[in-house]
Amino acid sequence: MTARKKRIRKAVLPVAGLGTRFLPATKAMPKEMLTVVDRPVIQHVVDEARAAGIEHFIFITGRNKGVIEDHFDSQFELERTLAERGKKSELELLSRDLPDAGQTSFTRQQAPLGLGHAVWCARDIVGEEPFALLLPDMLHHADTPCMADMIRAYDKHGGNLVAVSPVPKDQTHLYGIVGVENAKDKVSPITKMVEKPPRGTAPSNLHITGRYILQPEIFDLLSQQERGTGGEIQLTDSMIRLMDEARQPFHAVRFDGDIYDCGSKIGFLLANVAYALARDDLGPSLKAELRKMV
Ligand code: G1P
Repeated sequence: MTARKKRIRKAVLPVAGLGTRFLPATKAMPKEMLTVVDRPVIQHVVDEARAAGIEHFIFITGRNKGVIEDHFDSQFELERTLAERGKKSELELLSRDLPDAGQTSFTRQQAPLGLGHAVWCARDIVGEEPFALLLPDMLHHADTPCMADMIRAYDKHGGNLVAVSPVPKDQTHLYGIVGVENAKDKVSPITKMVEKPPRGTAPSNLHITGRYILQPEIFDLLSQQERGTGGEIQLTDSMIRLMDEARQPFHAVRFDGDIYDCGSKIGFLLANVAYALARDDLGPSLKAELRKMV
């Protein structure tokens, strides 16, 4: 059993998905660059990882995703123009968000073979250390960022961790679902995991929300992983083998904030409303306008 406690320095962000649910908006623009208020979805997720102390961001990209790389680079002409015009606060905003040189890596998935395959593409960049994984579609909105909570739990328990939250019973077939020792505990050992269980067979209503801390042994398992649900190489299937066969510990960390699935139109719209309402500069006037509207 491995419960190594190496520090979590790197985060993997799979951003290769086509975004077909948002056509035509995503015809030429990656879905991860759609804005929630005034920040791209992917920036919100990087913000969450940075708030948890992550130092290196590994993007698993695909064709037509080049603009994500540009977004996390400096923009010389823009910065010079802002400086010439004395736009100090805008300049500060840009420099605050910019990762240091060498803190980002980009690699292409090449073929849409599933989440497990996307994560496996990061193996050489991650190397032999545990890492964070954040699925960018799922925005986790809370006072304490979800990944910060998970790193705290990792510091205590080590091993592998998965963020979970309850979903209505009629939605369990849409997600990875875990069974835990004690569903009331904030952090509880996982006893069972299954990817998208057929209706009526889920071990609980706790779904995997898209935030993980994984040990590097997952990569060997992913390299041999056969296709699972939906004909795709499923990350959950390799996690099950890491837990059941390699006997590594897995804990569920309950996330108590709000989750917005920005891969769906309604989730994306709600995220915009929620993030704007939470801001001092926009919240009060938006609330007043919404009251008039509905
Ligand atoms: C993936 C994971 C699933 C998880 C979900 C969260 O599924 O495989 O376990 O619950 O993300 O969004 P996907 O949404 O890619 O079908």
